[in-house]
Amino acid sequence: MSATETWHDVAALGDIPEEGGLAVKVADRTVAIFRRGQDLFALEDTCPHRGGNLSEGIVRDGLVYCPLHAWCFRLDSGCNEDEGPGVESFSVFVEADRVKVKMAAVSSTP
Ligand code: FES
Repeated sequence: MSATETWHDVAALGDIPEEGGLAVKVADRTVAIFRRGQDLFALEDTCPHRGGNLSEGIVRDGLVYCPLHAWCFRLDSGCNEDEGPGVESFSVFVEADRVKVKMAAVSSTP
């Protein structure tokens, strides 16, 4: 199945903690939204190691540390700062105090 990407209204800006993340459901996926000052970031919430929720991780210096075994991912790209795989990142912006994330309405299967 394929789907075109679209913007999804996922939360109020005030719902995103200043330090930490918020998990939101978008279509059939869970996305972790992070806030750093005026910047927002959206990453796949599930750690590729053993499924930790990155939205519950520790955020520091532009990185999020998985709460289970501390794999470390860049907020701006989802790249793994260690040697493992990264997580998908999504475009995100704020409009009238609402947070919008760009992704497919339905996950695609290869
Ligand atoms: S589950 Fe994330 S580092 Fe192990």
